[in-house]
Amino acid sequence: MQTRGRFITFEGIDGSGKTTQMRILAERLRREGREVLEAVEPGGTEVGSQIRRILLDSANQDLRPTAELLLYFASRAQNVEQCILPALSQGKIVLCDRFTDSTLAYQGYGRGLGEETVLTLDRIACQGLAPDLTVLVDVDVDTGLARARVRNTGTAGSETRMDDQSLDFHRKVREAYLDLARKHAGRFRIIDGRGTPETVAARVWESVATHV
Ligand code: TMP
Repeated sequence: MQTRGRFITFEGIDGSGKTTQMRILAERLRREGREVLEAVEPGGTEVGSQIRRILLDSANQDLRPTAELLLYFASRAQNVEQCILPALSQGKIVLCDRFTDSTLAYQGYGRGLGEETVLTLDRIACQGLAPDLTVLVDVDVDTGLARARVRNTGTAGSETRMDDQSLDFHRKVREAYLDLARKHAGRFRIIDGRGTPETVAARVWESVATHV
């Protein structure tokens, strides 16, 4: 019997479709009788949701990169201790929409704060927790941002601060993800995010099924 559940993270640029894919996988696993916790970063707890609002509010244009970095980790520290570790110790499968790879890609590379700084904070915030498997839903930046813009039409002005960064920023983030996936090839699965949600979900299932 497994004494610890499985920790699977979903990563990708804005508009990659990772959130939809995570939801489809969670439903499939539940249909198969598995206990699943769906977690999200930033957010996932009451405190985390408040931090999420600060981070993604397009009004907060003067948020400095280091403050941004610390807020992402504050949300994560709360989520790890309050939700993720308890669920894993109960043997659940925890699916998490973004985790430290997001911070490496967006703050470490995108903002230029560096990998070492991010990994130092990871050691403080995550208590040694690392994903067993990471699904990188990969789309090109034009496709991703076009999808994100459509999604934001309904929530205009509320959760757009990160999506509003330059095209160059998002290109750096995508390159950083692909580098991370190459560097940690054993843990990462790169999924082609083009096509219908069902087509992409079939690709996700193929690469995850043997790990759960
Ligand atoms: P979401 O749109 O996937 O919910 O993510 C919220 C935004 O926050 C997205 O633009 C990526 C960004 N982000 C970071 O910059 N660093 C992080 O550590 C995380 C978790 C998200």
